[in-house]
Amino acid sequence: MKNDYLRVLGIESSCDETAAAIVEGGRVILCNVIASQVDLHAQFGGVYPELASREHVRAIHAVVAQALQDAHLQMSDLDAIAVTRGPGLGGSLVVGVNMAKALALAADLPIVGVNHLEGHIYSAWLYSVDNPPTPEPKLPVVALLVSGGHTELILMKDHLQYETLGNTLDDAAGEAFDKVARLLGLAYPGGPSIQLAAQTGNPRAFNFPKARLDGKYDFSFSGLKTAVLRTVEEIKKTGKELPVADIAASFQQAVVETLYEKTMAAAEEHNANEIIVAGGVSANRALREAYRSQTKFRVHIPHIKLCTDNAAMIAAAGYRHIVAGETNALDFDVQANWPLVTKA
Ligand code: KG4
Ligand code: ZN
Repeated sequence: MKNDYLRVLGIESSCDETAAAIVEGGRVILCNVIASQVDLHAQFGGVYPELASREHVRAIHAVVAQALQDAHLQMSDLDAIAVTRGPGLGGSLVVGVNMAKALALAADLPIVGVNHLEGHIYSAWLYSVDNPPTPEPKLPVVALLVSGGHTELILMKDHLQYETLGNTLDDAAGEAFDKVARLLGLAYPGGPSIQLAAQTGNPRAFNFPKARLDGKYDFSFSGLKTAVLRTVEEIKKTGKELPVADIAASFQQAVVETLYEKTMAAAEEHNANEIIVAGGVSANRALREAYRSQTKFRVHIPHIKLCTDNAAMIAAAGYRHIVAGETNALDFDVQANWPLVTKA
C-alpha cells in the first residue's frame, strides 16, 4: 500500500487525557476522540496519579470504540497501532499500552511505542480531513516543545532525528503557569486561567526577571515564579487588593518573551528552514501572536485542539516509525522517564 494511505490508530494515556485517533498518511486526522479528566483533578489543583489510571481504565474501551465509529472504520481497515510508551505517569501509560497490545494481537496489526514528546512535535504535520491540507514543515526545523512537564528546544534535521539545543533547568513553562495560577488563586490548569486573567491586565505593570543562563538555549522559570510569589506577598502585606490581571499579564509576557527570543536565536544560529512550536503551552494566545508577528521564519503551531495531549499526534509520530520499518514486539514495556534525546 502507498504510505500516503497508511492508517494508524493512535492511543494516548500518559497523563489525564484518555485519547484515541485515526490518522491517514501521517497527516490527515480521520477522527480524534479525547476523554478529559481535567474536572476531576481540578479539585486537587493537579493530576492525582492513582485516580488518573483508574479513570483511564474506565474510559479507554469507549474512547477507542468512539474513534472507530467517528471514522466509520473497522479494526480490519487499519494498518498499524501507535501508543504512547512514555514519558508520563507509569500507571496511566500501562492502560493505553495494554489496550494497544490487545488490539494489535486481536487484529494482527503491527504496533509501535511512541515518545509523547515526539508526538507533540509531529502534531505540526496534522490537519483535519474536513479542511484543506496545511503546508508540511520543511526540515531542518527548530522545535520548541512547551508543555506541563517539558520545555525544550530541539533541532530536527530529518524525520525522527533530534538534537537537544536547550532544556529547562528547573520548572517547565506549563508548570510555571500552573504554579503561578495557584499563587493568584486561579483555577487549574493554570495556563488557560492566566491567559484569561491576563486579557484585562497590563503586561508592563510588573517588570519580572528573565533568567540569564550559561547554556544560551536553556531555560529557568523558578526565579520568575519566586519573583511573582514575593510580589504577591508584599502586596498582601499592605492589605491592598491583589492586581491579579496585571500580575498574570506581566508573568505571561515574561514567559512568552523568553520562549520567543530563544527559539528565534536558535533557528537563526542553526540555519533552520522553519520553526515548530508545540505542546500544551503553545495554545497560549500571546505566545502564538509573538511568533506570528515576525516574518523571518514560517512558524508551525498546531491548531489549539492539537496543542494539548491527544492521540492524533501519537498516530502521526507512529506513522514515521512504521514507514521507517520500526515496530515493537508485543513484550515492550512503558518508560515513565523516557527522554526524547538520549545523551551519548
Ligand atoms: O502538553 P500538555 O497537554 O500536557 C503535558 O504533556 O504536559 O500540556 C499541559 C500544560 C499545562 O501546564 C497547562 O497549564 C498548559 O499546558 N497550557 C497552557 C495553555 N493551555 C494549556 N499554558 C499557557 N496558556 C494556555 N492557553
Ligand atoms: Zn503533552
